[in-house]
Amino acid sequence: MEIKIEKTTNPKQKPDASSVVFGKEFTDHMFIMDYSKEKGWYAPRIVPFSNLSLNPASAVFHYGTEVFEGLKAYYTPSGKAQLFRPEENIKRLNNSAERLALPQLDEQFALEALKKFVSIEKEWIPKKFGTSLYIRPFLFASEPALGLHSIDEAMFVIIASPVGNYYKEGINPVSIMIEDEDVRAVRGGTGYAKCGGNYAASNRAGEKAEKKGFSQVLWLDGVERKYIEEVGSMNVMFKIDGKIITPKLTGSVLPGITRKSCIQILKGWGYDVQERLISVDEIGEAMKNGKLEEAWGTGTAAVVSPIGLLQYKDTNYSINNGKIGEITKKLYDELTSIQWGNKEDKYNWCAQID
Ligand code: COI
Repeated sequence: MEIKIEKTTNPKQKPDASSVVFGKEFTDHMFIMDYSKEKGWYAPRIVPFSNLSLNPASAVFHYGTEVFEGLKAYYTPSGKAQLFRPEENIKRLNNSAERLALPQLDEQFALEALKKFVSIEKEWIPKKFGTSLYIRPFLFASEPALGLHSIDEAMFVIIASPVGNYYKEGINPVSIMIEDEDVRAVRGGTGYAKCGGNYAASNRAGEKAEKKGFSQVLWLDGVERKYIEEVGSMNVMFKIDGKIITPKLTGSVLPGITRKSCIQILKGWGYDVQERLISVDEIGEAMKNGKLEEAWGTGTAAVVSPIGLLQYKDTNYSINNGKIGEITKKLYDELTSIQWGNKEDKYNWCAQID
């Protein structure tokens, strides 16, 4: 399929790299492709960024039939633009789409479209370490029909936004509230899929946490409300007594690409990395015994984000005296050096943009 390109005649002013905020400003273009059951995917195009025109009966508005991805493009010191593991995002997008019975993408074509789009928007990648172009591919059911049935019409869209830190704290530790009432996902549900509904289910607790002065919510499993799952915007890792422990992918946890990359880096450094169930009681116990050494989150938007405080049922656990831990910092430095091209990409994770 040929991607039709219509360039804007009215380019926007690009923001200063030192003032970019997460996901507020968008580039000049977007990628769109339509799907129908008869034609399959058709009419791929890169067009000026604009509002989408959708029938108000479109399934996405009523049943939340939507999946998405988040990945970043970076400028290297040698002036090259690169993406971090984009094929992993496309693969995960298809896995998420499969869970919601949305149509599958041809992964090679989607990757080509993504690279073409980023190459057109290359000048929007801010050229400052710590800033990047956040890319948001999303796929949703567009057919105007209120009856629940298989999806006959869909759209795949890619937009992008120049960004800085996701958390206002930057690389300083964030405070997280462990939620003990609402749950984000259950096994057999959509927890492993990156779908809008998971994030919508998180809103109420997120608001509660925000009002109490926390940055985010840490979710417990939806059945026993006992095991640590994830923080909605990132996966979590703990360093307890020298070992790294991260919740295993039980089906209700997002299989993070940054999570997977960090595990590989940590194992490469010789750490014992355990992907297993970890209960909130185990965290409390480790805290009491002085064995909870560090905690951090991993995610595309969040990168590697130190956790300085956890609150569970009105008990506060201060981690590493609220300071960034040694491994958290080392991991942040290693990952960002690869992403921003300051270090040899020995894992072959980066994809160049022409
Ligand atoms: C990402 O890290 O890309 C995400 O999708 C998380 C989102 C809450 C910004």
